[in-house]
Amino acid sequence: MESKVLSTGIRLSNLPQSYIRPNSERPRLSEVIDCENVPVINLGSEEKSLISRQIGDACRSYGFFQVINHGVPLELTEKMQEIAQDFFNLPLDEKLKYYSDDPSKTMRLSTSFNVKKETVHNWRDYLRLHCYPLEDYVQEWPTQPSSFKEVVSTYCRQVRQLGFRLLQEISESLGLEREYLKVVLGEQGQHMAINYYPPCPEPELTYGLPGHTDPNTLTILLQDQQVTGLQVFIDGKWLAVHPHPNAFVINIGDQLQALSNGRYKSVWHRAVVNSDKERISVASFLCPGIWTKNIASSFSRNEKQSKCQLNDFYAQ
Ligand code: OGA
Ligand code: NI
Repeated sequence: MESKVLSTGIRLSNLPQSYIRPNSERPRLSEVIDCENVPVINLGSEEKSLISRQIGDACRSYGFFQVINHGVPLELTEKMQEIAQDFFNLPLDEKLKYYSDDPSKTMRLSTSFNVKKETVHNWRDYLRLHCYPLEDYVQEWPTQPSSFKEVVSTYCRQVRQLGFRLLQEISESLGLEREYLKVVLGEQGQHMAINYYPPCPEPELTYGLPGHTDPNTLTILLQDQQVTGLQVFIDGKWLAVHPHPNAFVINIGDQLQALSNGRYKSVWHRAVVNSDKERISVASFLCPGIWTKNIASSFSRNEKQSKCQLNDFYAQ
């Protein structure tokens, strides 16, 4: 298997050694619990105060929730999924034009997590984009598929608005003014990871993404509508989050955990793979933008550590 990425169109019958986790770190898929009730919150509800109450409850009990009637048109989320699929279906040569294992690149196709640093690889390819301000980054995005830039930039704008709406609801649920979090967070950066998990010959032995928390502010995940793969760690157990029609999955990142003084948790989650179906997810991250660029040198030791985690995050 000498390609730089997994999405070559060739199916392997055995998992290469470099993807095999030691026994104690394997996903133990038979022990995962099906979770039918990760909260689904209707953002279009007439009962405005109900929304922030439900979000508060979800943040306290799960740290994860789903939103429907979220304002991003169905047509657009469908187009986003299609374009993600079309991108990974491009001929290998075309895709490899975008390949880099240098985490400082603001646009790159890569594989696993951080190929240069890690010891065991993950069964994932991903296209990582910076998305804000759009006009600074769109020109470096893929030119194939031909509608990529248009669809993805429209999607990014809409998801950003949804992110701000969620920050309002989360602020209110913490007893703060609705604009509070948006104001204290300052001008938010925005990144996207388009994740592609090919069918995997031995899903019991590896991960798409191993357990992690997201170090950013807020994550808005467009899940594959057909194939389950996201799992969250709640009360000591891994729960599978099945796709809910037309919903986004939302999770609190480390930044909001810190800002809420730990009242809301940045929950551990992971992506597992399966033997017969590919899976695609589109993760949008709101993250402290200007903040990370400018203030690094004045940090105390602890803060430097969290800055390092953030750098790892940007390296994903
Ligand atoms: C991520 C992530 C989950 C998924 O990209 O940070 O957790 O289902 N993705 O792909
Ligand atoms: Ni994540």
